[in-house]
Amino acid sequence: MTKSVKLFEPMTIRGTTLPNRIVVSPLCQYSAVDGFAQPWHFAHLSTFARGRAGLVFTEATAVEARGRITPQCLGIWTDEQAEALRPIVAFIESMGCVPGMQLAHAGRKASTRAPFSAKGPIPLSLEDSQQAGAPWQTVAPSALPVVEGWHVPEALDHNGLEQVKEAFVMAAKRAAEVGFRALELHMAHGYLLHSFLSPLGNHRTDAYGGDIDGRMRFPLEVAAAVRAAIPDELALFARISAIDGKEGGWTMDDSVCLTEKMAAQGVDVVDCSSGGIGGAPRFRNDDAGKPLTAGSARTPGFQVPFSRRLRDETSIKSMAVGVIIDPHQAEEILQSGGADLVALGREIMYDPFWPLHAAEALGVDPDYQMWPQQYAWAVDRRSQIKLLNQGE
Ligand SMILES: Cc1cc2nc3c(=O)[nH]c(=O)nc-3n(C[C@H](O)[C@H](O)[C@H](O)COP(=O)(O)O)c2cc1C
Repeated sequence: MTKSVKLFEPMTIRGTTLPNRIVVSPLCQYSAVDGFAQPWHFAHLSTFARGRAGLVFTEATAVEARGRITPQCLGIWTDEQAEALRPIVAFIESMGCVPGMQLAHAGRKASTRAPFSAKGPIPLSLEDSQQAGAPWQTVAPSALPVVEGWHVPEALDHNGLEQVKEAFVMAAKRAAEVGFRALELHMAHGYLLHSFLSPLGNHRTDAYGGDIDGRMRFPLEVAAAVRAAIPDELALFARISAIDGKEGGWTMDDSVCLTEKMAAQGVDVVDCSSGGIGGAPRFRNDDAGKPLTAGSARTPGFQVPFSRRLRDETSIKSMAVGVIIDPHQAEEILQSGGADLVALGREIMYDPFWPLHAAEALGVDPDYQMWPQQYAWAVDRRSQIKLLNQGE
């Protein structure tokens, strides 16, 4: 390395050191069998480690069977499922990267079809061997479907809440046991914990509903219980939908309040996404909740303002995500205080070696020293091409 740029500065969170600030965002693959990781998951996640991402998160991994988005989602509700992930974790570690797991419960957005063929809730009549065991009864803070025509969830009672909390704790312990060094609680996109936070998903009248303190209670209890159950050196992230972007929904001010409370429970990083509470397409509103005009949604870095504000106004580290595609753009986000970490989703699936290419583009690795030695022949050829081009 010849030059220090922020994107390639290591970052230590508790006892976990990320070699750089590039994070692979959780990306559902809809390729698990009964919650078990398959060769696809090894191939998919290990590629990002070969590409030298600092932290590689698994897809949303269900803490209990009914918390899967689809029957093909990854799960960690048994020790055997965790063991199946061990080789993936070991490989990511062997490349000097940090293995992370997103712990999730889909709540009222569970029991849906994998999106390769069809979308939406699994119909009661579906006779498809691939959807074995489905549909199933979903759970939520209140018995409100995501939208008309979706499954009507069962409202969790006190025992149900304890059961879900315990499922998060057990899943976190299993993840730590097989070597994951960062965990992320999925509190975004309309899934279970988000639906507790948002007044649009939570109509409870007990201690877990009502005002913002009541609505935050369960997600904060889960965060505290998970933090208490895992080794101190593990980094704990929480992904939130910083805004619902809908009238009467969760707002940026609410996110500031939640983030500070999560920090007090030992959450280290807030991962700033948005939307998803109503099931309609996400990312329809700007930072202030104003509707974006058609076509302006999902512009590069469109969620960075959320991350910037939470970083400025709370005591926690923040991660930005959403159409971060260019190395110079990513560097600018970090340099200008928009985030401490950047997460990439679609762009890094398009180019799993994005970190290596970014290192080259930012002058950090002009001689391809960061590349795996097994690929020396490939980078030798690139060097020759560079020399030839310089000679022209
Ligand atoms: C195929 C796919 C699967 C996704 N799966 C998850 C997931 O499991 N958990 C999650 O929090 N977000 C998920 N997301 C959202 C991404 O993590 C990311 O926040 C979003 O795609 C915006 O980032 P990008 O513009 O870099 O893709 C998914 C997105 C895509 C495209």
